Amino acid sequence: MRCDQTAAWKALQNHASGFAGFDLREAFKADASRATGLSQSAPHVFADLSKNHTDSATEALLLELAQQTGLTQHRDAMFRGEPINTTEDRAVMHWLLRQPVGSAVRAELVEAHQQVHTTLDAMLAYAEQVRSDSTITDVVNIGIGGSDLGPQMAVLALQDFVIAGKRFHFVSNVDGHELATVLKGLKAQNTLFLIASKTFTTLETMTNARSALAWFQAQGGHDVARHFAALSTNVEAAAALGIRTTFGFWDWVGGRYSMWSAIGLPIAIAIGAQGFRQLLTGAHAMDQHFQSAPLAQNLPVRLGLLDVWYRNFLGYTSRSIAPYHSGLRRLPAYLQQLEMESNGKRVDRTGQALPYGTSPVLWGEPGTNGQHAYFQMLHQGTDVVPLEFVAVKKPAHALADHHELLLANAIAQAQALMQGQHDAGGHRHFTGNRPSTFLLLDELTPASLGALIALQEHRVFVSGAIWGINSFDQWGVELGKVLAKDIHARLQSGDASGLDPSTAALLARLR
Ligand code: F6P
Repeated sequence: MRCDQTAAWKALQNHASGFAGFDLREAFKADASRATGLSQSAPHVFADLSKNHTDSATEALLLELAQQTGLTQHRDAMFRGEPINTTEDRAVMHWLLRQPVGSAVRAELVEAHQQVHTTLDAMLAYAEQVRSDSTITDVVNIGIGGSDLGPQMAVLALQDFVIAGKRFHFVSNVDGHELATVLKGLKAQNTLFLIASKTFTTLETMTNARSALAWFQAQGGHDVARHFAALSTNVEAAAALGIRTTFGFWDWVGGRYSMWSAIGLPIAIAIGAQGFRQLLTGAHAMDQHFQSAPLAQNLPVRLGLLDVWYRNFLGYTSRSIAPYHSGLRRLPAYLQQLEMESNGKRVDRTGQALPYGTSPVLWGEPGTNGQHAYFQMLHQGTDVVPLEFVAVKKPAHALADHHELLLANAIAQAQALMQGQHDAGGHRHFTGNRPSTFLLLDELTPASLGALIALQEHRVFVSGAIWGINSFDQWGVELGKVLAKDIHARLQSGDASGLDPSTAALLARLR
């Protein structure tokens, strides 16, 4: 049943109307067990949810909403490999990429699982070969969106596990400044280009790949087979470009869910086969938690339901993410695609327009930097923006005082957002009662990163399932691609016929 037609939705609306006076400080006073009751451990991740605008009654109603909208059935359909991406008639099985050899797999999926491991073994063997090849000093990943953000985010996050003596570059934008800047520092004979594209048709990636090939040949490079590899579901298109080494994946892996597939090759080269397997193991542990933990103690479920509560009942339209670890500086960008490309939809699974809001706006920067930039608005602005902290207990460096200061700042910000400041008036007054979630990892390792990312994937699944949308297509990106082709031709020809006056004037200026 569509979420807004359930009894739980009505009950949540009533509950929300009585919630206007909810105050976090009072809630803690009234319930001595609030911090523990609203905390949740999951594999590699501890979450303190207690500084959120929620209580046990809200959680109980949200669980009813989950039950009345068939969340577990939808989840189980995904894990059975059913084509829940209905508009593209595809299964959604990124989780199968992390399912270990020897684990129980449904009979229908045995073949796919075998292919996953055959490809994984080949890709990891290749990664090890590149790692031991000292003549390759630079690895350039050319890809965009899901074929860029995951590997880039993970290689940065796992910097302390990255092999010495190799540099990793990520070129995504069609803006030639990006590729030109990277190429300037490279030597053809020392460079490996990875052309990462699920479809192998994406304008940016194809343009960058062709320019990289031309550069390689102009530099006297001739062994394309050794210096170029493709990561794609479209093996034929890669071959047509002259690339012979290709690691494939399957249409049931969505682009923004693909860092576990061949798209993860830069990660595997960076951290090695064993590290990549640990990344998969951490994610698999979170898959199991999502599948088997009771909903009331299921972290992706609790987070996803909280997202629905905030979006649809309390009217919070955005969520800010603050990783208190500089290695996680690309995490907000990664999560933006994950959340907003998955759940930025205005129709339900049958194509009917929805009368309620879906994806929040996601944004953020690493702490403490954000504190000195936009946290002002979080503390004293007119909009309430729930903030999600991601902190790591153990640093990978020996500057202990830095790490203590970093963690102190994260905790203090969560505290300040909640407590506010009342003994000062006017500009110095902080209302407090601002919500936040605190996610904590013991260490930032391949396994804990895998678990953290799988957690985020599943929480996006949960809110998308409640909203009744297809979180696995992205038709909204198509129109711009078509129009860009048309405008590109017009930039060359000067033909402005039929264009609106604004577009025509911009075209004239840019010619
Ligand atoms: O245009 C959006 C999109 O299709 C994303 O969903 C995807 O991650 C990205 O482009 C890159 O696509 P591809 O891997 O096919 O080049």
